[in-house]
Amino acid sequence: MRLLAIETSCDETSAAVIEDGCVVSNIVSSQVKVHAEYGGVVPELATREHMRNIQPIVQEALSLASCSASNLSAIAATRGPGLPPALMIGWKTAQAFAYAINRPLIGVNHVVAHLYSVWFSGTPVKNNMDDFEPNISLIVSGGHTIIAKVNEPLNHVVLGQTQDDAAGECFDKTAKLLGLGYPGGPNIDRLAKSGNPRSFHFARPMLNKANDDLSFSGLKTSVRYFLEKNSSLLSKNESIPDLCASIQAAIVEVLLKKTLRAARRERVKCITVSGGVACNSLLRSEFQRVCKDNDIHLRISPQDMCTDNAGMIGLLAEMMHIQGDPPAVLGDDISPNWAIN
Ligand code: KG4
Ligand code: ZN
Repeated sequence: MRLLAIETSCDETSAAVIEDGCVVSNIVSSQVKVHAEYGGVVPELATREHMRNIQPIVQEALSLASCSASNLSAIAATRGPGLPPALMIGWKTAQAFAYAINRPLIGVNHVVAHLYSVWFSGTPVKNNMDDFEPNISLIVSGGHTIIAKVNEPLNHVVLGQTQDDAAGECFDKTAKLLGLGYPGGPNIDRLAKSGNPRSFHFARPMLNKANDDLSFSGLKTSVRYFLEKNSSLLSKNESIPDLCASIQAAIVEVLLKKTLRAARRERVKCITVSGGVACNSLLRSEFQRVCKDNDIHLRISPQDMCTDNAGMIGLLAEMMHIQGDPPAVLGDDISPNWAIN
């Protein structure tokens, strides 16, 4: 089976060709520079960039895979969740493509693709679902923070999720308060390396709640109030790494403890972590340390599968197709608020 996959849910335009469980090409064009001066994604600009980029990116993915449209057995695209006008560009392109070559169109849930991306690795990236074991899955991105139980491939249930901001949003918003550029997550990660995480103490919201829900807006607010009271710290360059390390420590501690608690309660021996925030170096090392101590297998998405890319969309679409999920009807619309179950 050979399929073309398209991803445009937020600020990356991406296209990939997948062949029998293997990523043959995966082109990602990031719009980070376009949005940086505004401190966040501007939907109007994102849409314009997707419109400009979608055709060359699709062509590049096809030509790198030495594949023409007539060689494709199906088309896949992110149908939701995401920014409506951004989703629309990729979905409509995929619809037109599927119609023109008379092949099935597979609508993929972006968050579910992050969830299963932990099983997509190697050079070239391939689907390693044969290694699957039941797990607790933390999906942690700029738009979502979810703890789910995955019983078997494509059988998952949400146990808890953020009640307000996503963890990535918390990284980005607190970075903005510190005067750091967008996206803030990678900047906090980089600066935290030379900071002391015990310099300042920030809230760990919902850590002591017995359920699997999370919350990050209280942490962001505690950072804001703290900086209002201690504004002189912002002008001292040497304080910024300590602030970054302290904020990062608070976010990672909540994610780690809540995920581990769910794994113990559900008696699973595997934890998976996916989404853009899974790039964070402290998160990766802390999950590795704690899972090793608790005799739990850990699977974290490889760095190139953590952030948005069409490769993960295509590999999931192929799994759905093989399992017999019915393809989308050509007239189906985007689903911007699509929940994962
Ligand atoms: O999965 P993703 O590319 O897009 C969404 O689906 O949201 O995730 C983007 C998020 C941003 O909030 C970004 O700041 C965060 O992932 N991120 C990081 C790091 N790299 C990306 N957060 C913390 N540390 C990082 N190294
Ligand atoms: Zn994403």
